[in-house]
Amino acid sequence: MLVARAPGRVNLIGDHTDYQAGWCLPMAIDREVRVEVATRADGRVHARTEALVGEADLAADGRDDLATAEPAWARTVIAVLRVLREHGRSPVGFDASFTSTVPVGSGLSSSAAFEIALTLAAARVGDLPLAGRELALAGQAAEQLASGVPCGVMDQMASVFGVAGHALLLDCRTLAVEPAPMPPAAAVVVAHSGPRRLADTEYAARRAACEAAAARLGLTALRDATADQVADDPIARHVVSENARVLACFDALRAGDVEAVGTLMLASHASLRDDFGVSTPALDELVERLVTAGAYGARLTGAGFGGCVVGLVPAARATEIATAAGGFVVHAAAGAGIIS
Ligand code: GLA
Repeated sequence: MLVARAPGRVNLIGDHTDYQAGWCLPMAIDREVRVEVATRADGRVHARTEALVGEADLAADGRDDLATAEPAWARTVIAVLRVLREHGRSPVGFDASFTSTVPVGSGLSSSAAFEIALTLAAARVGDLPLAGRELALAGQAAEQLASGVPCGVMDQMASVFGVAGHALLLDCRTLAVEPAPMPPAAAVVVAHSGPRRLADTEYAARRAACEAAAARLGLTALRDATADQVADDPIARHVVSENARVLACFDALRAGDVEAVGTLMLASHASLRDDFGVSTPALDELVERLVTAGAYGARLTGAGFGGCVVGLVPAARATEIATAAGGFVVHAAAGAGIIS
């Protein structure tokens, strides 16, 4: 019997940059998925989760049909088993029981937390050493396989590499991670705007538009584009300006300059709204509400089209401001691991 845990994440700044080899600044949060796993002798995987209905009964090598498996969340289990099989996991069966404190479908990476916790546990009982970047990349591959969405690697990297009390500068080209301590004067608040709409198709469309813009410039990724090169293309312009904001924000965080971080977050939201076109009226209103209540800055976080906003607020007023926005306070947490 073993227990693995993996946290959700919130992204402080740097959205729609990861799949263009750029930078982002997420932190793992104190909301997590836990999975308790006990091996079985019959080569089957039986999984159940407290948060979602149904039970999965699957082949341990991931050979079940991804498109038709029921309940729907079992497709993520199949995807993880299949990716791990390709990495050489021996198809050992197990019982898996999940619990989660990450709100589902709100843009706090409940699915990345689920995949990473399961990937860790299933690899361990299947005699496959898998950690760090390989673990994150396996989780990303499983997410893409299960959802059909060409997501980047930010969510899984944050879940694996989280450091308590720190945000993480991710270089999505080299997969280097540099933690920055969160200033003690500031706290992070998250508020949910409601369900996401069209997120999957719109996400894929934005990613395709970025790839086309990079190709027109003869580049492999917009990370390498200059502001001049993309001045007339709002989609590419967002990616280029956002990368610059991430690096500036990392410096401001390390300097403890919470006002500067807040200003950069607001500029990021404006760019995601006006140039990249992934905000919604509900997200805009929540950003407003946080700022009015006293946040240094706030922005939509993650893919957009609904989901959450993140605000940086004075620590002493965190609960009050969170309540005013109908949200909650999150703390930077350690990354995934086997806990027993
Ligand atoms: C989702 C994806 C990430 C990233 C964000 C936008 O969370 O899973 O890879 O692209 O959207 O920054």
